[in-house]
Amino acid sequence: KTLRMSVEQLKKGGYDTFMLKEIFEQPETLTDCIRGRITDDCRRIVLSGVIENKERFVHANRIVIVACGTSWHAALIGKRVIQEMCGISVEVEYASEFRYSSPFITKDDVVIAISQSGETADTLAAIQLARSKGAFVYGICNVVGASIPRSTDSGTYIHVGPEIGVASTKAFTGQVTVLTLLALCVGQMRGTVEEATVERIAQELKNMPIYIKEVLRLDDQIKNLSKIYTYARNFLYLGRGYNYPTALEGALKLKEISYIHAEGYPAAEMKHGPIALVDSEMPTVVIAPTDSLYDKIISNVRQVKARGGTVVAIITKGNDAIKEIADHCLEVPDVPECLTPLVVSVPLQLLAYYIAINKDRNVDQPRNLAKSVTVE
Ligand code: G6P
Repeated sequence: KTLRMSVEQLKKGGYDTFMLKEIFEQPETLTDCIRGRITDDCRRIVLSGVIENKERFVHANRIVIVACGTSWHAALIGKRVIQEMCGISVEVEYASEFRYSSPFITKDDVVIAISQSGETADTLAAIQLARSKGAFVYGICNVVGASIPRSTDSGTYIHVGPEIGVASTKAFTGQVTVLTLLALCVGQMRGTVEEATVERIAQELKNMPIYIKEVLRLDDQIKNLSKIYTYARNFLYLGRGYNYPTALEGALKLKEISYIHAEGYPAAEMKHGPIALVDSEMPTVVIAPTDSLYDKIISNVRQVKARGGTVVAIITKGNDAIKEIADHCLEVPDVPECLTPLVVSVPLQLLAYYIAINKDRNVDQPRNLAKSVTVE
């Protein structure tokens, strides 16, 4: 018997789309991303680009992260984890705004540029500007040898393999992983993070591919759930702390591929505007793993329910408090707080994906969007 398959189908590895393949690849891409970067005993983080430039990171006044799109969302998570581990002030800027904002940058600043493609015009221009002011520029990219990694002082590749789907998925989880490794590595150099914390998080990062496999088993549940929400015209995504950026990213994924209007918001800011939109026709996705802000987010969920809204909550397995209030719950494994963005972003990707598929959208090549934006 001969197997008939086009080259296109072969490249998709048996999946219907590149995006679905890339979502399902994440256990492997994260394994590749971490490989060789955590010692066997989990006590040391080996990011050569950081270690070779130790002085720059140890004596940095502050860190400024520049990026666009999904990479900018990863940057917001990076800000939190770096501030927590390194006791250093971190600012995050859209590259397109940074370049025209007369930024105050000195030679004591470290600028981190994040870009999957390594070709985004605004990010490249931001790098050139930062370097002209004497800053040390560090790149976090995927495409090896692209313009951005060639124009930075040093950097780390995320090594997640080619990302073909226009909506970024595996690159996002790779970027968050590298930012976490960087925070731990710099924190160790600066003496601002406890050894036990490094060991615990490094161990859990090594376990991450197993956790992501577990999360991917939500596939059928999410496929069914997506049918209920396919015809919603607006969505609200809420999260707090580490998961305020994942709320933004969940909303962006839905917008990009389903063309449904979606807004991501820090949950507590909801009462300063978006709550006015809540009714039975606008679903709210709440990202609520068990963390330091869990009690606060429960009250945000109650506020949405009290106004007749429907709530889909992403929660930590075994924590049933929200189950009694929310309409639907998706359970993710229990991981340290700074790693929750990794486990929650996969169900968000799948939810956006299936809603878009139900609407018959071209998820790999959404209208009007480009994989890399090389012009202004
Ligand atoms: C485009 C892509 C997004 C991506 C953004 C930044 O808008 O469609 O998926 O997040 O550019 O791209 P970069 O390659 O710099 O991460």
